Amino acid sequence: MTHYHLDDLSSINADTQKPARFAVIGNPVAHSLSPQLHQPALDALELNVRYIRVEVPEGRVAEAFEKMHEVGIQGINVTVPHKLEALDACDEVGKGARLMGAVNTIVFEGEKKVGFNTDGPGFVRAIREDFGLDLGDLRIVIIGAGGGAGRAIATQCCLEDCPQLTLANRTVEKLTSMQTLLDPLLHGEKLEGPGDRLSIHALDDPALQEAIANSELIINTTSVGLKQSDPSPLPSHWIEPHHLVYDTIYNPSCTRLLRDSQAQGARIANGISLLLHQGALSLEYWTNRDAPIDAMRQGLAEAIRA
Ligand code: ATR
Repeated sequence: MTHYHLDDLSSINADTQKPARFAVIGNPVAHSLSPQLHQPALDALELNVRYIRVEVPEGRVAEAFEKMHEVGIQGINVTVPHKLEALDACDEVGKGARLMGAVNTIVFEGEKKVGFNTDGPGFVRAIREDFGLDLGDLRIVIIGAGGGAGRAIATQCCLEDCPQLTLANRTVEKLTSMQTLLDPLLHGEKLEGPGDRLSIHALDDPALQEAIANSELIINTTSVGLKQSDPSPLPSHWIEPHHLVYDTIYNPSCTRLLRDSQAQGARIANGISLLLHQGALSLEYWTNRDAPIDAMRQGLAEAIRA
């Protein structure tokens, strides 16, 4: 079975030696790679429990949490489109998740539902792994900052107190409220004065080219690149050899942006490391143990090859 529905939940653990204890909810959810990431980890930790997918219609997230708790689910991942609804359904929410407006991890503490967002902290680990650098040391441009992934990463960049952050989006209006929210977080003394460290641009704003030239890390969080035939969201000549270019897309594994960037002499990485590390952090919240990262990496690699 690829996934369960809400109405299946009452019987999922009725007759099994290996009960479902962890789950991902989404809509659709059938293609989520979370089970391939988490099941090998749970097995490596010798927990003898299952990780399942549950399709949940919009508007029924709180009900899903109640039903899942009743049948013994201990931890939940939340994917599109439920990350905001999940936040509203929590009894407590971590600071990062509150700022990001999105919860991707639920931990049951007794009767309490506590929500976290591991996308931002997972991205910190991803950049360390791929480029050997700390997010908080980099001048950063986020292309597509108005989307869900973009907002989470932008928030994390501010929480890490990065010296300069440029947010770009096709629809620039989506960035104004984020600027108001995030600007006060960049209060440190790194580089520019207060208020100068965060700027917003439309994708077609000519000033974006200069901001990119002055940056070290370029992150694509748009959906441009998901299709093999997609163009790059940026003109290739804007990318220079000093750049690190991270595409949050992992399938296809090398987008047009990454191909162009490599040809320009930049260092590149795709979104596999983000997927891996956000999952590892969720598992750490649930189990209070170090995630068996090699088992997770291997599970993911096999899922993507299949
Ligand atoms: P997610 O939650 O997965 O990040 P999303 O919220 O649908 O996805 O966000 C998609 C992002 O891709 C947005 O930043 C979107 O820009 P708009 O806010 O202007 O819609 C961006 N995007 C999608 N198609 C695009 C395109 N053809 N060119 C530029 N940006 C695009």
